[in-house]
Amino acid sequence: MKQLLSLAALSCTLLTTAAPAQTASTAPAQARLDLGQDAAGPAIEPAVYGHFVEHMGTGVYGGLWVGPESPIPNTRGWRNDVVQALRQVGIPVMRWPGGCFADDYDWRDGIGDPAKRPVRVNRWWGGTESNRVGTHEFMDLVEQLGSEAYLAGNMGSMPPRALSQWLEYMTADGASTLAEERRRNGREQPWKVKYVGVGNESWGCGGNMRGEYQSDLHNRYATFLNQVVRVASGDGEGNDQLVEVLMARSGKHMDAFTLHYYTMPGDWSAKGAATGFDATAWARTLKSAMGIEGRIAAVSRIMDKHDPTRRIGLYVDEWGSWYDTPPGAPALHQQNSLRDALIAALSFNVFHRHTDRVRMANIAQMVNVLQAMVLTDGPSMVLTPTYHAFDLYRPFRGATPLRATLTTPRFRIADVELPAVDVSAARTPDGQVVLALVNLDPKQPAQLATGLKRAAHGRLLTATAIDAHNTVAQPRAVCRSRSMRSPARTA
Ligand code: AHR
Repeated sequence: MKQLLSLAALSCTLLTTAAPAQTASTAPAQARLDLGQDAAGPAIEPAVYGHFVEHMGTGVYGGLWVGPESPIPNTRGWRNDVVQALRQVGIPVMRWPGGCFADDYDWRDGIGDPAKRPVRVNRWWGGTESNRVGTHEFMDLVEQLGSEAYLAGNMGSMPPRALSQWLEYMTADGASTLAEERRRNGREQPWKVKYVGVGNESWGCGGNMRGEYQSDLHNRYATFLNQVVRVASGDGEGNDQLVEVLMARSGKHMDAFTLHYYTMPGDWSAKGAATGFDATAWARTLKSAMGIEGRIAAVSRIMDKHDPTRRIGLYVDEWGSWYDTPPGAPALHQQNSLRDALIAALSFNVFHRHTDRVRMANIAQMVNVLQAMVLTDGPSMVLTPTYHAFDLYRPFRGATPLRATLTTPRFRIADVELPAVDVSAARTPDGQVVLALVNLDPKQPAQLATGLKRAAHGRLLTATAIDAHNTVAQPRAVCRSRSMRSPARTA
């Protein structure tokens, strides 16, 4: 993609995620961005670049945790290579321990002498759960990453007292018996826990509840949570009626409401492959990714009705691509290609357009599961194209979205029509303008006229094939990025 820059006393950073342009001789699609000076919404919360870690497959064991005795270099069991890569990209918040796993999790299984912790069946994702990683280990990872903790609480199979006591165990100071127990288990100071989820997908794996029943339970559980952001399990099935019921009955007992949204080229019965796909699957996947905007808008409209001052945040606390798991692979393990980088970029652009509600988003998931940032293979590790997309978008954290009107041609592949270009623009706290440009068309380069005059520099993430991906043998098939510079223009 080529940028045309002109105008304004602004310096400008360009972040471009592009489909591979087929031939240099293809005439570029011409798009135009009319950029306003005024804010298009509140600042982009860094937590929109948050993460989700669930106990399944090699998402925790092997991918992040190898144990203190492992020959793989680690700090108190957490792999140094993965932690270092995650620290570099910045992990503002981590949601743990599920997902579906959370509503079958008893926090007491994961404290105390590791040798005495019970082994449980992992009901949702297969195999057994050793409980070797529990509260103390997770909070150590939170601290190693400089992150915030988002605990996914069990509303499906444990009483409210279990959730409130977990929080007391972690955060109480002074003479509380639970605080004493924590100290005996090796942690003197209370931890800070910012967010607590009250159940997960309560309409499904969290208990198959009706909205009315869930809202009564939510209100009950939330009553016993103090000084945390109380996050209500929300929608993941396009169910406006559920959103309506929960907002009407539980709005005053929540601080955030969740939306889950997964992107796939096919449907739940045949999702499609992570690699080796054609241009039609590419287009269907990007269309599916862009569908998150309609869902956010629909949920926001219902939230606006019940919460006109917008006190309650909308947390997209599970989002990302979900492909068919290859036979024999660990649970929900999938490759990650250039297409996933575009899914991430398009999703970020949507979150930036909805900062009035979207105050957190957690990609599913951090390592080795679904749209992962990092894939490990024994002692080796590769950074995925999604990791590089997160990295490209770092300047947007805390920046304020700018009003912008995009005029773009559209293109068609099979039955799918898409815009050639998608854009996000924001001003950073130090006055820089940052632009993120996404070229969706795998067959044509694009040129964007912005009207900006000041010199700009940028980075490009692209590759030679639509399903290009990184492996241990070829870790830089898709990686950040050529650095581009554009001189100041006078006219
Ligand atoms: O991320 C995988 C699963 O997807 C989660 O456990 C669940 O919440 C969702 O259905």
